[in-house]
Amino acid sequence: MPDETPRTDPAAADAPSESPVADAAGPSSSPETGTVDEAAVATVEGDAGVEAPAGGTDDVADATAAGAPAVDPREEMRENGGVTKPKRQRPPRPHRGEQLELKVESLAHGGNGIARTEGGWVVFVRGGIPGDVVRGTITKRKKDYGEAVIDEVLVPSEERIPEVAHHPGAPWQVLPYERQLEIKAGQVEDALRRLGGHTDVEIEPIVPSEQQWRYRNKLEYSFGEDGEGALKLGFHAAGSWQDIVHIEDCLLASEVGNEARNAVYAWCVEQGLSAYDRKLHQGLLRNLVVREGARTGELQVRIVTSVGEFDVSGLANHLNETLAVPPTGVLWTQMSQVGETTYGGDTDVVSGSAYIHDEVRGLRLRISPEGFFQTNTVMAERLYALAAEYAGLEGWERVFDLYCGSGSLGLTLASHAGEIIGVEIVEESIQDAATNAALNDIRNAKFLASDARTGLPDAIELAGRPDVLIVDPPRAGLGPRVCRRIVEAAPKRIVYVSCNPTTLAPDAQRIVEGGYVLRKVRPVDMFPQTPHVECVAVLDRVA
Ligand SMILES: C[S@@+](CC[C@H](N)C(=O)[O-])C[C@H]1O[C@@H](n2cnc3c(N)ncnc32)[C@H](O)[C@@H]1O
Repeated sequence: MPDETPRTDPAAADAPSESPVADAAGPSSSPETGTVDEAAVATVEGDAGVEAPAGGTDDVADATAAGAPAVDPREEMRENGGVTKPKRQRPPRPHRGEQLELKVESLAHGGNGIARTEGGWVVFVRGGIPGDVVRGTITKRKKDYGEAVIDEVLVPSEERIPEVAHHPGAPWQVLPYERQLEIKAGQVEDALRRLGGHTDVEIEPIVPSEQQWRYRNKLEYSFGEDGEGALKLGFHAAGSWQDIVHIEDCLLASEVGNEARNAVYAWCVEQGLSAYDRKLHQGLLRNLVVREGARTGELQVRIVTSVGEFDVSGLANHLNETLAVPPTGVLWTQMSQVGETTYGGDTDVVSGSAYIHDEVRGLRLRISPEGFFQTNTVMAERLYALAAEYAGLEGWERVFDLYCGSGSLGLTLASHAGEIIGVEIVEESIQDAATNAALNDIRNAKFLASDARTGLPDAIELAGRPDVLIVDPPRAGLGPRVCRRIVEAAPKRIVYVSCNPTTLAPDAQRIVEGGYVLRKVRPVDMFPQTPHVECVAVLDRVA
């Protein structure tokens, strides 16, 4: 989260996340940066077979959007007796920057509204919900589809409710929570049955989130400036890599996290510090990462700047002296790269510890500054409980935990298994996983720092074949190669934790073709007010 775009979406993942930008608050972490919904998507609710743009997969979207199959010119030639007469006229396309009146018909996977111009050109409308009539500006113009931002809602959908607070990370707050759940469940069903062809799979009811607001334990904010040069700290405006929406109370963060952000902001303003200009590549302040242990109350404040100087000890002293909950650690990352990311760079611990801890299902877990940890602690427990239920362990099994992050999911299963072998690409997370095993006196777990694509055979060499295999990949899913390796490893059961049903569906199909049956899937809502949905699936070997 499963994170990745201009930080418009704190839930996009770790979310969901989809450009050179590390996820503002999404389901996943650094290696996910740049990942996309490869299996570009279909609509729910009166879907007309339209596929949504998937950040970075424009070609896929181009070929398939608007329900128009890509036309093979050779095929056309044959069918037209050698005359290259186009069979289908593409609808006229408005220009980038053009304003249009659009009626939103349905929702795409990923959350954008879908509308059509009079000529039938598909437009994905950010923030639009079915029934809205909006005036929107075209921000992207592709052959088969475009994207638009809303300038004004002319006629609101009957379902639309007032925003609690303007927040680019909570685009679905305009829908009642029950309706959000219904749509998410519908999207999971659509992805599995229609995109994946899993017509017989049992889909259990969606698990609602226990908290609808203030559920995130990690937020990544961006600094910016307004036209007069006044400092801002918040999230990227929808669809913009330059405009920052200043936030005073982030309703996805706790009160403690908000107090920390506001204290950093006030201090930076007082010091007269400048924001990094993403166009000119000058200026100092880039991002602020606030992480909390939801169960331990520990707080980490990490300020990300370009390479330069400022009184960072003064900042740490200010936070330590003024915050009601003094930070467990204040960190400073200097980032030389141009693309917006909070991963990499040089990080110094300015005061306190480099780590914070949280607790999940009775385990105490250490989290590194850049290590992955589920961003909704309470719902992570529900997710792990569901994974444990689906794994149905008897106590003797060798369990592989692929994409294990800091080991939390596998470690919560350790007392019900013979042994746990975790595989994860981020070295820092693997160190956390080993530390977490020791912290909790778990002696039947081993961890391997490796790419899942190559690490599975290594893990088998290390420990033998798995009886049960758990996977929890980023949004891009497993892909054909990892699916093939998994089938070769031949575990009797596979539990697939997914932050993207549109990649779960084809992955499950590949595994089914390898001799498994997809038994059950259950969606879990870890990210209320956003379009993101998590699910857990179980596949059993039958051949
Ligand atoms: C959604 S997180 C799951 C983490 C863990 N299961 C948990 O619940 O905390 C996905 C993890 O996959 C890791 N990852 C991404 N690409 C990978 C790859 N190619 N091979 C192994 N791990 C990868 C990420 O670093 C991240 O920790």
